[in-house]
Amino acid sequence: MQPKNSSWVFKCIMSRFPSLLLLVLLLSLLFLEGSRQMGAKNMKDPMCPSRKKNLAALTGHICQRSCERRICSQSRTCVCDGDCGLSCIPPGLSCPWPVMIDNAEAQLAQESNMFGDFMKVICHSGFRMADGQDVAMSHCQGDGKWSFTAPCEDILNLSTICKPPPEIENGFHEDGPYKLGREVRYRCNYGYRLEGASSLLCQENEEWSHTAPTCHPVNCSQPPNIAQATLVAVRKPEHPVGTVIYYLCHKDFYLDGSERVVCLENGSWSQLPYCRARCPISAQRSRVIYNGRKLWINEIPNGLVHHGETVKFFCRSQNKTCSLEAESRCFDGVLKTPDCYDEPTYLQYHLFPKRVVSEIPPC
Ligand SMILES: *[C@@H]1O[C@H](CO)[C@@H](O)[C@H](O)[C@H]1NC(C)=O
Ligand SMILES: *[C@@H]1O[C@H](CO)[C@@H](O)[C@H](O)[C@H]1NC(C)=O
Ligand SMILES: *[C@@H]1O[C@H](CO)[C@@H](O)[C@H](O)[C@H]1NC(C)=O
Ligand SMILES: *[C@@H]1O[C@H](CO)[C@@H](O)[C@H](O)[C@H]1NC(C)=O
Repeated sequence: MQPKNSSWVFKCIMSRFPSLLLLVLLLSLLFLEGSRQMGAKNMKDPMCPSRKKNLAALTGHICQRSCERRICSQSRTCVCDGDCGLSCIPPGLSCPWPVMIDNAEAQLAQESNMFGDFMKVICHSGFRMADGQDVAMSHCQGDGKWSFTAPCEDILNLSTICKPPPEIENGFHEDGPYKLGREVRYRCNYGYRLEGASSLLCQENEEWSHTAPTCHPVNCSQPPNIAQATLVAVRKPEHPVGTVIYYLCHKDFYLDGSERVVCLENGSWSQLPYCRARCPISAQRSRVIYNGRKLWINEIPNGLVHHGETVKFFCRSQNKTCSLEAESRCFDGVLKTPDCYDEPTYLQYHLFPKRVVSEIPPC
């Protein structure tokens, strides 16, 4: 149905039968119009959507000349180009290959990258497309571009958003953004203990993985009794975190540690003190060195030294001619006598006081 051939035929006919000119001209016009419509119809793909230029533009798809109503020039064919509908596409049109897509691998679904061919885009693990999928099919469009080349995003960067996690009493949670895969931790205020899940995960269904935890006040148990100590002014039945209590040692007992005890965050009391007893000195019949002075036991008040204090005893040398010092330390009522120390006998002490061990010359 070539218009040129038809015109040539008319010219021949007209030259011989000029009277039929008008009629034949009219007929031929009708005929031509009919053939053109038929041609377009033949090429029309019944499945091809009608042209939606604006929709195509949204994805950056540039529509080629439409052939829904017109014929394409000889160098192009009328084919379906997605949202652009029937369009005039140059034969042999191809899309770029290879294609680099961030965080993804692109594979051709077939051997070629020609118009209408497909490319499979597969996100690397841990990455997703904006719609949450990890695989997409992209096709080669009539404008010579692939329909889909968006990069895959880090799963944590995706725009899936959970609502802010619940607020809790006596506690708090980390700030947003609350994206897919985000773990939000909860903490309790000072003096409160967390119960339940300490962190919630923003899931793909845009819900949090757990219900929020709760915070409960922490109390210390009843303060313990300490031997030889009095607990000062504690009458409250409960001892929340931060409560301070004091212990006082009985008279003559030495406070070993801090009198001040605090209820800690974990519900335990801080280090408790001890009340340490004074030590009796076992050397009755010789002098000792105490506080830098050489003293008989009756020169030391009550014959007792304090916890932690040291006392030097006198021991006889091996050849028994002179004295050596041996030290011992008082610990909670016990002052160990050095092994080398021999307590003088009653007779030695009374008959030869100058010869008891502490009175002979030092070595
Ligand atoms: C994800 O977001 C972080 C910071 O927000 C950014 O440094 C990183 O490049 C993003 N990753 C991807 C794949 O977009
Ligand atoms: C701890 O003490 C608070 C008051 O300070 C009280 O409300 C709470 O029930 C106590 N908790 C426990 C576990 O005893
Ligand atoms: C409580 O905490 C203190 C100081 O951090 C620690 O010494 C103690 O062992 C803890 N007690 C318990 C029961 O965990
Ligand atoms: C006895 O022994 C001490 C040392 O243990 C020494 O200094 C002293 O000279 C000795 N005396 C005699 C008489 O041997």
